[in-house]
Amino acid sequence: MACIVNFSAITQPKPQPCFASLPASTSSHRSNSPKLQTSYLSFASNNSRISLRYDRTLAVSPPRETLLSKAPNFMVGLISCFSDHEQIVAAAKKPEPLKIMISGAPASGKGTQCELITQKYGLVHVAAGDLLRAEVAAGSENGRRAKQFMEKGQLVPDEIVVMMVKERLLRPDAHKNGWLLDGYPRSSSQATALKEFGFEPDLFILLDVAEDTLVERVVGRRLDPVTGKIYHLKYSPPETEEIAARLTQRFDDTEEKVKLRLCTHHQNVEAVLSMYKDITVKVNGNLSKNDVFAKIDSVLDELLEQRKAGSGYLEANKA
Ligand code: AP5
Repeated sequence: MACIVNFSAITQPKPQPCFASLPASTSSHRSNSPKLQTSYLSFASNNSRISLRYDRTLAVSPPRETLLSKAPNFMVGLISCFSDHEQIVAAAKKPEPLKIMISGAPASGKGTQCELITQKYGLVHVAAGDLLRAEVAAGSENGRRAKQFMEKGQLVPDEIVVMMVKERLLRPDAHKNGWLLDGYPRSSSQATALKEFGFEPDLFILLDVAEDTLVERVVGRRLDPVTGKIYHLKYSPPETEEIAARLTQRFDDTEEKVKLRLCTHHQNVEAVLSMYKDITVKVNGNLSKNDVFAKIDSVLDELLEQRKAGSGYLEANKA
């Protein structure tokens, strides 16, 4: 059961017995179990829905004080109206998962940062370049066509890339855990298509790296075909001789090809940036990989905190 509630009515509640103090438009129902009296309350506003379940037992865990200290303002009033013998066991809907884009010149460190971001935040990493290389490796018709453009450092045509990325983003894991889109969109037509499909990012991370550094990073890059991990002969060398022996190099990782890729990047980057300027965070990608990640981490952390506060999500809900 759900209904519309005037939040201002909840913000300053009077300390009265439970239910009696709740606004008339709040919905509620109770279980019939004689052992456990469970009640459900639901509230909805234009952009937020909260379901609150509480059990009337003598055990109070987490303590009401803990909930009060963590609750956003409008929930504090609500929690206050429950007696000491009532335990709030769940409150508020989990916030929407993050949807992030990461962009930057070739070898600016997108893939490297994506490894660290997914490890910590559990987002689904969707890399346009990886999807294309998988098609090339599979020997499909799309892969065969894509390779012709990739070898010249040019953008693969939209009719191949756009649907590939769309299909990946529509898979249930990306919907459930949120996504981290790497190297897409690279043109205004790709950005427009994404928007039309309803994929709107929360944040656009732009890695900013000096051009001579990019060339050095490309020629020294190696990949582990077993784990998919990205290495660099100088900056991130393989941990063991065994890994070193199996490392491979990408077919477009030569000095000559990276210059073509850089040229393509410069031709398209402004058009893409202009579409996301309100949500763009520019990060200095010349620093060490851990320092770059520290900056990204703090931005994502703040974004998540804001989102939790906005949705009325309580940490205690995780217990
Ligand atoms: P793609 O695979 O996306 O290549 P890219 O954009 O050129 O980017 P890279 O993968 O080369 O670099 P990265 O930024 O991920 O850097 P990494 O972390 O590996 O695309 C390939 C091709 O596919 C394109 O040219 C195009 O043809 C096609 N394509 C892709 N997307 C497309 C799209 N949307 N539309 C049309 N066509 C598309 O790091 C590089 C190296 O530096 C590594 O060795 C790493 O260890 C090292 N490193 C990373 N960070 C640091 C650091 N902070 N300090 C020191 N070393 C570092």
